[in-house]
Order: sequence, then C-alpha cells, then structure tokens
Amino acid sequence: MPAPDLSRSHLSAAPTALPWRDSPLRFGRISRLLHWAMALLLAWQFVGMALKLAFDLSPRDSWLVGTHNHVGVVLWLLAVLRALWALAQWPQRPAYGRGFIAQCARAGHGLLYLLMLLVPTLALLRLYASGRAFALFGQWPIFGVSTPNQALVQAINAPRDSLGASWHGLLGWLLLAVIAGHIAMVLVHHFIWRDDTARRMLGRRSPRN
Ligand code: HEM
Ligand code: HEM
Repeated sequence: MPAPDLSRSHLSAAPTALPWRDSPLRFGRISRLLHWAMALLLAWQFVGMALKLAFDLSPRDSWLVGTHNHVGVVLWLLAVLRALWALAQWPQRPAYGRGFIAQCARAGHGLLYLLMLLVPTLALLRLYASGRAFALFGQWPIFGVSTPNQALVQAINAPRDSLGASWHGLLGWLLLAVIAGHIAMVLVHHFIWRDDTARRMLGRRSPRN
C-alpha cells in the first residue's frame, strides 16, 4: 500500500501563503508590516532619546537625535493608519477570548494605541504652537510660520520643572514601559504557556488552531 502524502494533509506544518488581511487565526501582511515597522521606528526614537540623556547629545551631535522629530511624524502617520486598519479588520482579527488575562491583553493593546497616538500628537501640537515652520525631512512642508501660542507650549512642558520632562517625554517613557510589559507577556505566552499567541504575529506556519 503506498505511503500517505502528508505534505498535502491538514496535519502538515508546511508554511501557507500569508494573506494581506487578518483572519481569526493570525494577523495578515498589512497588520504585520505596520506592527514591525512601528516597532523598529519606536526603537529608533527610544535609543536616540536614551543616548541624548545619557551623553547630553544635541540634534547636531547625533543623527539619531536629529531625526527624532521627523521619525516621530512618520510614526504619527503610521499610528493613524494602523488604528484605521485595526477598526476595519476588527470583526475578523484573532479574538481576545474571555477571562482576566484576555481582558488585560485587550486593555494593554488599547493603552498602546492611545499612547502611540497621543505621544507624537502632543509633540506636534507643541511644535505648531511654537510658531516655527516644519518640513518633514526638510522636504515636505507640514506647517508654515504662525503666531506662537505660548500658553499651549507651557501646558505641554508643564511637568518639566517638577518631574524633569514634558507631558510628551513622560508619556513617551510610559509607552516604553507598556511596550516592555507587552514583550514580556508575549514571551510568557510562547515559552511558559506554550500557546499560539506569538505565531499569530510572527510565524508563517499555520497556528495549531
Ligand atoms: C514597539 C514595540 C511594540 C508595540 C507598540 C506593539 C504593539 C502591539 C499591538 C497594539 C498589538 C495588537 C495587534 C495590533 O493592533 O497590531 C500587538 C500584537 C502583538 N505583538 Fe506587539 N508591539 C511591539 C513590539 C512587539 C515585539 C518586540 C514582539 C515580539 C516579542 C511583539 C509581539 C506581538 C504579538 C505576538 C502580538 C499578537 C498578540 C495577540 O494575538 O494577541 N510585539 N503588538
Ligand atoms: C511615537 C513617537 C515619539 C516617541 C515615542 C517620542 C519619545 C520621546 C522621549 C522618550 C523623549 C525624552 C523625554 C525626556 O527628555 O525625558 C522625547 C523628547 C522629545 N521629543 Fe519625542 N517622541 C516621539 C515623537 C516626537 C515628535 C513627532 C516630535 C516633534 C514633532 C518630538 C519632539 C521631541 C522633543 C523636542 C523632545 C525633547 C523635549 C521634551 O522632553 O519634550 N517627538 N520624545
């Protein structure tokens, strides 16, 4: 009797083509592209600011620090796109399920979205309120010279004297802390609970269901 062709069987672990859109089993190409592009650019922002604080670098000293505003605007655009895409894909995305851990994951992702939108929005508002013109990478004008709004600039910088950073900076560091928690939970899912959570965003292999 010939041996069964397991490569075509549903039991096979062979990679399947990744769809563009999300499905209940895994995130599709567009969600993954947005997730990993933003993760890289956020790492750029945090490494740049950590180096700036550690070595007292100015935008002129370091390219990493000097590109902060521009990369931040790209992150703002990507965050808006990502939020719209998440809303469009909501009915077919992997479900959170029930229970306390699932609700924590839902709340954690919600907080990540809120901070990914709020942190660059505050910085952009402050830049606009400063009255200076801004062109993305010096090429694409975002806004021109305007009348400064000192009250708004001061409101965004308010916690500087007492806490050492503006609302933009403080919430930026809070975003980093939430990201660290998010990564820790992905590692717990993968290495301790050994479920398919990480594969939904990382792997090409079909999840086990
Ligand atoms: C800058 C860092 C990161 C941010 C802001 C972030 C944000 C998010 C958000 C908001 C989601 C929900 C799905 C979505 O709407 O896209 C998500 C899902 C996910 N992320 Fe991240 N992430 C980051 C880094 C990472 C890293 C480094 C890993 C890998 C260790 C990771 C692994 C995952 C996985 C596996 C999921 C799917 C979780 C699930 O299905 O419930 N993320 N991430
Ligand atoms: C998601 C995007 C962004 C993240 C995660 C981020 C994060 C940070 C962090 C952690 C700091 C250090 C705060 C401190 O000194 O302790 C900082 C500072 C700063 N950022 Fe951003 N940033 C982002 C986008 C932007 C944008 C879009 C702009 C300008 C348009 C900008 C302008 C600045 C400036 C001028 C500072 C130094 C002054 C201050 O503390 O507010 N950032 N940012």
